[in-house]
Amino acid sequence: MKVCVIGTGYVGLVTGACLAHAGHQVICVDNNAAKVAMMQAGKSPIYEPGLAEMMQNAMQTGCLQFTTDLAVGVEHGDVLFIAVGTPPLPTGESDTRYVEAVARGIGQHLGNRYKVIVNKSTVPIGSGDWVRRIILDAVAERQEANPEASTAQLSTKSTAVKFDVVSNPEFLREGSAVSDTFNPDRIVLGSSSQKALDCMQALYAPIICRVFAENPDLPPVPVVTTDLSSAETIKYAANAFLATKISFINEIANICDRVGADVTQVAQGIGLDSRIGSKFLQAGIGWGGSCFPKDVAALVHTADDYGYEAELLKTAVSVNSRQRLLAVEKLQQALGILKGKTIGLLGLTFKPDTDDMRDTPALDLITQLSRLGAKVKAYDPIYAEDSQGFQAVPDQVILKTTPEDLAEDCDAIILVTDWQQFRGLNYADLAQRMNIAVVIDGRNYLNPDEMVAAGFYYVGIGRPSAGNPTAASRSLRQQIAA
Ligand code: UDX
Ligand code: UDX
Repeated sequence: MKVCVIGTGYVGLVTGACLAHAGHQVICVDNNAAKVAMMQAGKSPIYEPGLAEMMQNAMQTGCLQFTTDLAVGVEHGDVLFIAVGTPPLPTGESDTRYVEAVARGIGQHLGNRYKVIVNKSTVPIGSGDWVRRIILDAVAERQEANPEASTAQLSTKSTAVKFDVVSNPEFLREGSAVSDTFNPDRIVLGSSSQKALDCMQALYAPIICRVFAENPDLPPVPVVTTDLSSAETIKYAANAFLATKISFINEIANICDRVGADVTQVAQGIGLDSRIGSKFLQAGIGWGGSCFPKDVAALVHTADDYGYEAELLKTAVSVNSRQRLLAVEKLQQALGILKGKTIGLLGLTFKPDTDDMRDTPALDLITQLSRLGAKVKAYDPIYAEDSQGFQAVPDQVILKTTPEDLAEDCDAIILVTDWQQFRGLNYADLAQRMNIAVVIDGRNYLNPDEMVAAGFYYVGIGRPSAGNPTAASRSLRQQIAA
């Protein structure tokens, strides 16, 4: 099938490349010319495992092209995906101006051929009908401005322009977005048009039939077909539920801290109950990223618009805001005054296997530590290499390119991101380089006994601390060694 994906961010580019890999003819459109030039040269502007290779292969087979020209994309696609960003406004609502601009652009270039317009961006509930109206208005404006050209290109009346709008929310996690696309738990399609729904089923047939799945023997991927608003709400409800689940386990972690229990054991114990499930029960320094914070805020805002106060969701957010500063409290308990101390952040991104810094808990830590007069250093494996997202790192952070450089003369390190390579570091060597060998394990990712054996005082989230804080200081370590 002929597909156009508008917006080549984390979601659009992965969607475009995966559909091209599945054999569709895909044109990706982006208004950022530098990004398009990069992709035309076979380079991915974002770090996502497996994406660059898939892009290059699909380009070689002629299935994937990139352009800045929306007209070319709209003319090409039978299915047009809108996948531009919908960042949060200060009020919590989604900023839909990019979706609006793209919808208008589609209307300006729409011809007579039937098209399915797919909202892939996470848009406020009700946006499907709104997008439809914008497209129709743009078509009408074009006809009024240039009746002769329009009649040559279009049917005589705007109502004769044939298109349907579908909501097809994405559930991709950054860092495993390619695998998530080919191994989805479900595909959600919302539309009032059976023709459009059939078209989407045909588009996704290779994925539904698990042609590229890790386990092709599983039954077909369930497809939830519903109305536009329900599909849009499914996306918000899924993210709000997952974010609330993490806030829940973080609340339990804070109780564990006070009663001396271990939240990792508690999570295992409750997660084995199939009604609860073991996923998204990892306690830590809070959720971040480009989706959870903005989507929960947007849902709260929508509820507000309709006269309902979403108390549970608001609490999930406030538990998370407090959690994102918990590591600083724990540092104060371990080190006392932080003014003049040097703190090393192990990891900056909001989760591993991505270069995305959007709303990462690291940003709150950096602000708070700097406010308290601490010096902040950081090491993140993704910024040790050349990376686009590098500019997102705040100026007051001293970036280091190795964990050893990071550890040098630090008074504590905080593990912010659970990058896999952080499990294999030579912590005994790092401890030797530190002024005070304290580690705040913000993701409960390290083994407390191993960290103590390496010379650290270990502090986790919702689990007992391990080691001796006094013995962690360099002077005492030197005395003991002497
Ligand atoms: C996506 C979404 O679509 C968002 O709604 C969802 O909640 C998270 O995932 P993301 O892929 O993260 O957003 O967006 P981003 O990385 O900001 O990329 C958007 C792309 O669209 C950029 O490359 C930008 O240049 C492009 N763009 C933006 C256009 O091509 N045209 C525009 O008018 C605006
Ligand atoms: C999320 C959703 O999972 C995905 O379905 C949606 O489409 C986009 O938003 P993403 O933001 O890429 O994906 O990452 P995710 O793996 O969900 O993690 C989000 C945040 O929650 C991260 O900061 C992560 O560290 C945190 N998290 C996750 C926890 O603190 N504990 C957990 O158990 C899981």
